[in-house]
Amino acid sequence: MEQILQQIDTHKEEITAFSAQTPEQVEEFRIKYLGTKGLVKAIMGEMRNVPNERKKEFGQVLNDFKLFVEEKYESLRQSNTREAKGTSAQIDWSLPGDPITAGTRHPLNIVRNQIVSIFKRLGFAVAEGPEIEDDWHNFGAMNLPEDHPARDMQDTFYISQNPSWLLRTHTSSVQARVMETQKPPIRVICPGRVYRNETISARAHCFFHQVEGLYVDENVSFADLKQTLYFFVQEMFGNDVKVRFRPSYFPFTEPSAEMDISCLICKGKGCNICKHTGWVEILGSGMVHPNVLDNFGIDSNKYTGFAFGMGVERITQLKYQVNDLRLYSQNDVRFLKQFTGVV
Ligand code: DAH
Repeated sequence: MEQILQQIDTHKEEITAFSAQTPEQVEEFRIKYLGTKGLVKAIMGEMRNVPNERKKEFGQVLNDFKLFVEEKYESLRQSNTREAKGTSAQIDWSLPGDPITAGTRHPLNIVRNQIVSIFKRLGFAVAEGPEIEDDWHNFGAMNLPEDHPARDMQDTFYISQNPSWLLRTHTSSVQARVMETQKPPIRVICPGRVYRNETISARAHCFFHQVEGLYVDENVSFADLKQTLYFFVQEMFGNDVKVRFRPSYFPFTEPSAEMDISCLICKGKGCNICKHTGWVEILGSGMVHPNVLDNFGIDSNKYTGFAFGMGVERITQLKYQVNDLRLYSQNDVRFLKQFTGVV
């Protein structure tokens, strides 16, 4: 018995002095002391030979010893993990690093930023409005009263708790928000997401993006509208692109026009993007309807304005030849990675 106690003291000294440089040495320590055939187990076996009256005392010593070995093992293990070792001189600095892959901007954001920066240079400020809109800002204020047939073109999603709330169908609603709070001269563009109740296909989606423009001041004319949009097209697509206006109808503008540009894909010869016409529509526009100005207390005898709204997906399609609208929201990195390096 005394002899065993003596041995335990010697082992303790040995263990205290033990140090490990590698995880393998730590494992050797574990096997030697704590393994199934290890020293701690062996000494525990000696319990049999201890007289009954000293069993308690011996049991205590053994337990302490076991704890002592376990603590040592734990501290050896922690100072020999890969991470702990990483701070020591064992790092091989010549190894190549782990590459950090940078993400890419989404093509719709690239194009939206380009549109915004062109209009900013003309003195337009950026305005934003809510995507969950009320009936008045989306339709009523824009001269689309209830039961107006033009509402049929823009079916959307309604909030069931309160059917006068809806997901905005166009960024024209931001025109209303701006005129509510600002007095002329007003010169804003409004980029944002819009929603329509459409079946998803290559050509239609239940959400897409627009950039709206609004300019209200004294003596604003249709010539200003045309010149502004010509400038935009040249900046966006280059000087060779042709532009044409076609008379159209929007309740919030009078007169109204849609603007086409010559097809960039086939250079006007005819392809399936331009439906073999050589022209692609990129926006709607017109002179702000006097009713719209009057809705916001802007004197329509004194002030005139022009407005336009363009689809970002369409412009991106022409710029980058993206032929399926669904690609924009499928998050396929093979698609997204093609825009690496474009800012
Ligand atoms: N809001 C129209 C749409 O979504 C686009 C539009 C047309 C906006 C003419 C305008 C405009 O500001 O003047 O189809």
